[in-house]
Amino acid sequence: MQVVILPTADLACELVATIMERQIRRHPDSVLGLATGRTMEMLYDKLVLKHIESGLDFSKIRTYNLDEYIGIPPEHQGSYRSYMNNHLFSKVNIDISNTHLPLGNAPDIKDECRMYEWNIKANGGIDLQILGIGKTGHIGFNEPLSALKSRTRDKALTPETIRQNQGLFDSPEDMPRRAVTMGLGTILEARQVVLLATGNSKAEILAKAVEGPITSMISATALQLHESCVIVADEEAASKLQCRDYYKWVFENEPDWQEFRIG
Ligand code: GLP
Repeated sequence: MQVVILPTADLACELVATIMERQIRRHPDSVLGLATGRTMEMLYDKLVLKHIESGLDFSKIRTYNLDEYIGIPPEHQGSYRSYMNNHLFSKVNIDISNTHLPLGNAPDIKDECRMYEWNIKANGGIDLQILGIGKTGHIGFNEPLSALKSRTRDKALTPETIRQNQGLFDSPEDMPRRAVTMGLGTILEARQVVLLATGNSKAEILAKAVEGPITSMISATALQLHESCVIVADEEAASKLQCRDYYKWVFENEPDWQEFRIG
């Protein structure tokens, strides 16, 4: 695992957007794993700008999102399908039939989960998986006690997650209580993983995720098992990390990061 700390959320998002841009330019038919949440909004704005201003081409890109709420149709304004259409898919030249999210109102949810897994494999697996982190330490909707080898499945949301996300629905009661999520085993199979965390509210859980012991109580700790995982944080989100100075030294001095350094 590597940790990159940048002064602001804007710079942290810019770095993740640049990592995605490199992937897309080098491999225009890449399979991207995508995330939702407020943190990702600035990232998607930056990708849209790269598309408009420097022709970043999404025409052959295929995407799989991490998760979707159960019990609402894709066209519901609170669905993650709507989120992705609004923030990214409708603003770049992606072929919408190449974008995938679990269907939250599928007649048979277990079958939907099996098909989602099968579909990712049939497309060659995920090249670059983007993640946020929830306040419970979840990635996707892998809430506490998610098995470290779990696959795409339905999962009940914690009261904390429901509180965190219900503001995105017209009224709190509209917030679904369950979701389909890629499993930790699914996420760990991505060839490269980048987790983006910004703001003070993520500081405590990020420190546990990065520097704490691996535990199914905090699903983001599973990323410590991944061979190619980068955590990108702003100063606020990184403020409780013990080895901040070491991580900064690595980013400033190691040749691998040279092309990503500003100035
Ligand atoms: C949701 C998503 C997660 C995301 C989290 C963080 O719970 N399922 O994938 O990481 O929100 O959201 P935010 O960026 O709004 O803090």
